[in-house]
Amino acid sequence: MKLKELITRARTCRRFKGDHRISSETLAELVDHARLSASARNKQVLRFVTISDKDTCEAMNALVVLGGALTPEQRATDKQHPGGFIVIAGPENMDDFATIDIGIAAQSINLAACEAGLACCMIGAVKKNEAAALVGLPDDLKVKLVLAVGEPDEERRLVERRADGSLSYYRDENDVHCVPKITLDEAIIIKK
Ligand SMILES: Cc1cc2nc3c(=O)[nH]c(=O)nc-3n(C[C@H](O)[C@H](O)[C@H](O)COP(=O)(O)O)c2cc1C
Repeated sequence: MKLKELITRARTCRRFKGDHRISSETLAELVDHARLSASARNKQVLRFVTISDKDTCEAMNALVVLGGALTPEQRATDKQHPGGFIVIAGPENMDDFATIDIGIAAQSINLAACEAGLACCMIGAVKKNEAAALVGLPDDLKVKLVLAVGEPDEERRLVERRADGSLSYYRDENDVHCVPKITLDEAIIIKK
C-alpha cells in the first residue's frame, strides 16, 4: 500500500470487534514503530505500556472518552470495546520539542496498526492519574497519550468540510463515521 493510501485509511476508530483481543506481541510490534521514529534531539524520553489483558483493558476503557462529539447511541456498545491499549508515558516536564515526539510516536503506531488491518484511537481525554495508577507507572513518568487498538467495527470515511463550514466529525444516515478534512488549497497558504 502506498503511504498516502495508508494515511487515508488510517482513520480514528471508536467501535471495535470486542471479542478480538490484541496480543502483547502485536502491541509490542506496534510500539516498535514508535521506537524507530524521529525524536527531538534524539533524546527518546518516551516510554510505553501495552495492555492486552482483558480486565485491565476494561478498566482503562472506563478512564477514557471515545467520541466525545458523538451521541451515546453512536458510541461503542459493551461488545465494541478496544482489544488493547498502548499508553505513551514521559517525564512530567517536556519542552515543546519533546512534546512533538508524542504525536510522531502516536502516528507511527496508528499507521502500523492500519497496515496490520487494525485501527486506533488516540486519546487525550483520559483520567491520567488514574490511568497511571492502573498500570503501575513509575512516579517519574506521566501519562501523555493513550491509544486504543483493535479490529475496527465501524466504517470511517474522509469527506469534505460540511456545508455549514464545520469540521466536526459525524455519523451519516448509514452510520458511516465521516471525517471532514480541509482541501490542499486551504492547507497550503503560501506558495513561492
Ligand atoms: C492528540 C490527539 C488527542 C485525541 N484525543 C481524542 C480523545 O480523547 N477521544 C477521541 O475519541 N478521539 C481523540 N482524538 C481523535 C481525533 O478526534 C481524530 O483524530 C479527529 O476526529 C480526526 O479523525 P481522523 O483521526 O480519522 O483523521 C485525538 C486525536 C489527537 C491527535
